[in-house]
Amino acid sequence: MTSTGFEPKIAAFVCNWCTYTGADLAGTSRIQMATNVRIIRLPCTGRIDPLFIIKAFERGADGVIVSGCHPADCHYTAGNYHARRRFTLFNDFIEFLGIDSRRITFSWVSASEGQKWADIVNDTTARVRELGPFSGYRDLVRSGLTGGQDAGT
Ligand code: FES
Repeated sequence: MTSTGFEPKIAAFVCNWCTYTGADLAGTSRIQMATNVRIIRLPCTGRIDPLFIIKAFERGADGVIVSGCHPADCHYTAGNYHARRRFTLFNDFIEFLGIDSRRITFSWVSASEGQKWADIVNDTTARVRELGPFSGYRDLVRSGLTGGQDAGT
């Protein structure tokens, strides 16, 4: 925790087959990692719509992780290739949307890479902690400009 008491909330969108299992392995192996991450499990990174990321920030996340199977390991053959293309374009768009791109981590983590998952969690948490809270969208929601129902704040 920082001297200001800020602890970031990180939303992690992960595929069921590789990263979720890798995260589970990190837990069962009792690897120490930050407890700031909340995992949202999806069938495949090909299912992760970039709007999920924007919505996460709108709903109170300070950072986001997107992770799935390594290239050539997707259980649906090409979902991660679609995701890679989608997020390459999205990455160019993030700053335009008012989000510092350092708040988002894209990665591949296999079912056997528990330590890699823990490293990503710790690195992302430390980086976002350094950046401070993300309040831009919450201010917009409060002012009613996004049409959002509730920012949970
Ligand atoms: Fe893991 Fe497609 S099943 S990325």
